[in-house]
Amino acid sequence: MIANSIDCSEYEIQRSNFEFLDEFIDKSKLFGDTMETELMRIGVSLPDNLLGKFDEIIEKRGYSSRSEGIRDAIRSYISYYEWMGDIKGNRVGTVAVIYDHTKRGISNTITDIQHHYSHLIKSSVHIHLDHDNCFEIIVLDGDGEEIKELAEAIMALKGVKFSKFTTVTSNEKI
Ligand code: NI
Repeated sequence: MIANSIDCSEYEIQRSNFEFLDEFIDKSKLFGDTMETELMRIGVSLPDNLLGKFDEIIEKRGYSSRSEGIRDAIRSYISYYEWMGDIKGNRVGTVAVIYDHTKRGISNTITDIQHHYSHLIKSSVHIHLDHDNCFEIIVLDGDGEEIKELAEAIMALKGVKFSKFTTVTSNEKI
């Protein structure tokens, strides 16, 4: 895979924007006035296929620059991990992953993790998507912090191409 180095000047990160991590924020507030915001520049190396996909998405979504798209992506990332930090108490949830089972050891590791947390797992579905890829959904019920540990352990594995973790308090009035 070719590493694609990006021009650093594209990456001014507006630090003060991190105060506004809500998805429903008024973007004009964030991007309208940069005069009073301290900017930092960073350089990032990315595989060219990843950068290509990112560029396609930001173009479709009408971003005027990569910097804007990257600021939004970083905000979503921070927001997601803050949300992860709030997962406590009794929870039900799902972990969905797509992974490449030909990557050395991944199938065994995913099985080992599930056996370690077997007391949380109510059900799981495994679909062999194609020659290399598997899709697995794990349904969970139990202590939120343990559910989060299981989800993070699986999501961090090398060979996992997609992962989605959802959870809700098990006694929540919906
Ligand atoms: Ni499979």
